[in-house]
Amino acid sequence: MKHIGVLTSGGDSPGMNAAIRAVVRTACHLGARVTGIERGYQGLIEGALRPLDARAVGGIVGLGGTMLKSARCEAFFEPEGRARAAQTARDAGIEGLVLIGGDGTYRGALKLETEHGMACIGLPGTIDNDIGGTDFTIGFDTALNTALEAIDRLRDTALSHDRIFFVEVMGRHSGFIAIMSAIAGGAEEVLVPETLTDIDDLIEALRASRQRGKMSSIIVVSEGDDAGKAMDVAKQVEERSEFKDTRVVVVGHLQRGGPPTAFDRILACRMGVRAVEALLDGERGKMVAIQGLDLVLRPFSDAWEVRTKFDADYLKIAKILAT
Ligand code: F6P
Repeated sequence: MKHIGVLTSGGDSPGMNAAIRAVVRTACHLGARVTGIERGYQGLIEGALRPLDARAVGGIVGLGGTMLKSARCEAFFEPEGRARAAQTARDAGIEGLVLIGGDGTYRGALKLETEHGMACIGLPGTIDNDIGGTDFTIGFDTALNTALEAIDRLRDTALSHDRIFFVEVMGRHSGFIAIMSAIAGGAEEVLVPETLTDIDDLIEALRASRQRGKMSSIIVVSEGDDAGKAMDVAKQVEERSEFKDTRVVVVGHLQRGGPPTAFDRILACRMGVRAVEALLDGERGKMVAIQGLDLVLRPFSDAWEVRTKFDADYLKIAKILAT
């Protein structure tokens, strides 16, 4: 294989640029050329292509976002959209693709392979850490540290004013950022989509915390919690209890941006190198994953078939340490 394409798809995540750089430079090292595809599958359909060489990806290892831009592409869900995308790749002489994104990206890649014979290798890029088959996704560690910094800052005001803060963190269907930032930030309570939330239990826990002498509380709320977003949870607590003066902070997209941590940069570099080596070795239909300390190749289907829930022990740890 002498010509590969690279794209980023779905929500951007810090470390995607480091991954693009690793893909391009590894390909150059192994004698292949690279075409960058802009705006994910949308750019593949529209022919938004540009050649990338080693210099084109200089200075980006520490930049958040993605130099190739990203999009969630509706047209790619339709067979005609995929046919146009495959045609663009064929016309440009692209023989294989490295796709950086989440499970939606892989579902698309699998179809591109089965319907049009395009060789695809994926890299897990999302802040949510919700891709099956890999312990970590590129961007999760940076987002976690951003959420943690917010909690650390809010703790100052919570303590100074004996206040209750509800801090909403990202993770559409996954409480990874919430539980990890809650433990690392010493939050009093954490609400995650993986467990059912009972507002009355939460109120009781806040009362018990007061009785133990804690005059302030930080409650981390995952945006996907069944009780609602942080604003809804705060409203319910205020309506049903004596806690009437709470504050809500939504960390939001701040978690998606900013320079990737060393962990995310190194993960992206390792995975990017492995992806190109795998593609040039004839591997297809797989994502590069990290399991323990090792990089492994896993079928795309792991992304949605393998359980991504965090270990229940984390909830226990958060509870014990919040006393
Ligand atoms: O999947 C990444 C993520 O940041 C989720 O945590 C969040 O729910 C969603 O994307 C936000 O998407 P958008 O940027 O389209 O609002």
